[in-house]
Order: sequence, then C-alpha cells, then structure tokens
Amino acid sequence: MTASPFLAAATGNQGPQLPVWFMRQAGRSLPEYRTVRADRPMLESCTDPDLVTEVTLQPVRRHGVDAAILFSDIMVPLAAAGVGVEIVAGVGPVIAEPIRTEADLARVPALDPSDVGFIDTAVRQLVAELGETPLIGFAGAPFTMASYLVEGGPSKDHARTKALMVGAPELWHALCARIAAISTVFLQVQVAAGARTVQLFDSWAGSLSVADYRELVLPHSTAVLAAITDVPRIHFGVGTGELLADMAGITDVIGVDWRVPLDEAARRVGGTKPVQGNLDPALLQAPWPVLADRVRQVIRTGAQAPGHIFNLGHGVPPQTDPDVLTRIVELVHTEGPELRAAARADGVTSS
Ligand code: CP3
Repeated sequence: MTASPFLAAATGNQGPQLPVWFMRQAGRSLPEYRTVRADRPMLESCTDPDLVTEVTLQPVRRHGVDAAILFSDIMVPLAAAGVGVEIVAGVGPVIAEPIRTEADLARVPALDPSDVGFIDTAVRQLVAELGETPLIGFAGAPFTMASYLVEGGPSKDHARTKALMVGAPELWHALCARIAAISTVFLQVQVAAGARTVQLFDSWAGSLSVADYRELVLPHSTAVLAAITDVPRIHFGVGTGELLADMAGITDVIGVDWRVPLDEAARRVGGTKPVQGNLDPALLQAPWPVLADRVRQVIRTGAQAPGHIFNLGHGVPPQTDPDVLTRIVELVHTEGPELRAAARADGVTSS
C-alpha cells in the first residue's frame, strides 16, 4: 500500500480517492513563478537547482495537487549534451543549426549523467521537501524532440521531419536512437535521485499516420520506456486518438488529450490501463458552473477505466486564472470519490 493516491492510481491500485495534477502546473499561470523567473532565460533557469526546487513546489503549495512535476523542459537534456538550442519566450525551442544530414548527427552527442548534475541536485532537494507527495520526472519522446531538431523550431505540419523520416529512414532511425539514449539517461538520473514516476511526452506524435508511427517512431519510444523499470510510466501525446492502443502498449498509464472521452480511450486501449486526463484546457476560461460540470463529466467517464488520474488534456495555458485550478483540485478531491463510485456502479459513459 502507498500513502499517495497518485501512486496508487498509477500502479493500478486506486482506492476511493481521485488524484489530480496539471501538465504545466509550474509556470506562467502563477504570479509567484513570474516573480522568481524574472527575465532569466528559460534554459539557464532550468540549471539552477534552487530555482527549479522553488518553482516545482509552487503549484503543490498553492493548489494542493497530488503530484509535483519537475520544472524543466524536454530540451534541457539536449542543451546539456551540447546541442545548440534556445527557448525563446512566446515561440518555444529554437535550434540555430537544424539536424538534417548524416554529418549533422555529430552535433547530437551522447548525454553523460554528469552533464545533468543540476537535475540530480534539484530532484534530491525536492524529494526531501515533498514528503509523501511524489515527484514526476519527465522527458521528451524521440519524435517530438526530433521534430524540433529537424525543423529548427516549432512547426504545425512537421513537414521537414516527415520528409526526412520517409526519405532517409536510416538517418531518421540513427537520429531517433541518439535522442532515445539521451532521454533515457535524463529519466534514469531523475529516477535514481528519487522521482517516483516518469512521464514521456510525445506531444506531436498525433500528426502521424498509424502506419508511420508504428514503423518509424514506436520502436524508439519503446526503447526509452523499456529502460525505466523501477517506477510507473506515463505516456502522453496530443491528438493521439488513433495511436492510443500502440502508446498504451508500452507504458503503465496512458495520457489522453481532450478529443477522446476517457471511457472511449479506455475501450481503445483494451480496458486494462489507468488513464490520465482529460479536461480541455480551453475550458479553464469558461464560467465556473459550466466548467465544474465538465470536470464532473471527466470524472464520470474516467471511472470506466481501471484507474484515473485527473488532469487536463494538455498543459495549463499561461493566461489561466490560478484560482480556477485550485477550485478544480478542491472539486476533484471532495466530489471525485462519490462521483467515481456512482459512475462505476452505473456504467455511465460519454455516449
Ligand atoms: O509544470 C510542468 O509541466 C513542468 C514544466 C515543463 C515545461 N516544459 C516548462 C516550460 C514541461 C513538462 C515541459 C515539457 C515540454 N516542453 C513539452 C512537452 C509538453 C507539452 O507541452 O506538450 C514541449 C513540447 C516543450 C517545448 C516547449 N518549451 C514549448 C512548446 C514551450 C513554450 C514556449 C512559449 O513560450 O510559449 C517551452 C518553454 C517552456 N517550458 C516554458 C515553461 C514554463 C515557458 C518559458 C517561460 O516561462 O518563459
């Protein structure tokens, strides 16, 4: 037995409690974050263990969420390995010299655990401060990270990445193998320092066909998650409704965006895995009574899965009123157990 409702749900042992945390809970929606970050560049901030510790703890203190997620970024291990990357405010990751040829691969070196000593320090400090509240470690999945490296920055259609994937599959596989090794080391450092769960973000995998995903991406995500054996693993992407079964097959908990109701998601993955999600982040702007009803609906549909960790379907938008997040946590904690039990008994579904 574990004292953490989050870990109980993540390991398939959910009790009556319904755990909740939010992707991007640490960040710009919090005034205390904006104060601490000030004008320091994002990647530099991520290498300061005291700042990382403080910012990671802020949403736990303020909202009473059931898990903390390390304040970092999927680009941090690439930068630590020596890849020339910056995070530009309002834009996202920018790679000065994109990776597009065999020769470019030399600019994606391996990550040594000693390159991310600041992560080891931050995680140990956090574990000491957090007590019973588990820390979630995370990394980016090979496709999503490769997309930034190949495109040189954020992209809507991932056209260059897809062209490289199908046009130069050997180069693609070599690049993904390098990224997978980097993400694996990054996760292993976090777990060794005390992270109790990991989440692998394949945020942009939903842009792929199932066939391309299976052949060109899944083997590399599998390699990363298979290397993590000591803690439960969460795997998440946006727009991945068609990929859910494949993604669920390589993880313990499947993250679901807002497009597919959780009962349907549970059905697609064979009804055997806990689900995480999936309130539409845009609805955080809606009037509270409407939003509260949508929160209840997510709880009811989630009850049809063998376990449910309440979350959004993607990250907290920066303009979110943080009080709304606190109210959602209160609602999930106070009404969640009863709503969940009733929905499980009735078999209430989204359809
Ligand atoms: O609370 C948490 O969730 C932990 C922090 C976290 C960040 N990035 C901090 C961050 C996490 C889990 C990430 C992961 C991440 N980074 C992903 C996967 C999750 C997802 O959103 O799909 C991706 C795709 C990235 C790449 C990235 N980094 C983007 C798209 C951006 C936003 C750019 C912008 O300014 O709009 C970043 C920057 C970033 N990462 C910020 C934060 C708090 C904003 C930087 C700032 O505060 O100036």
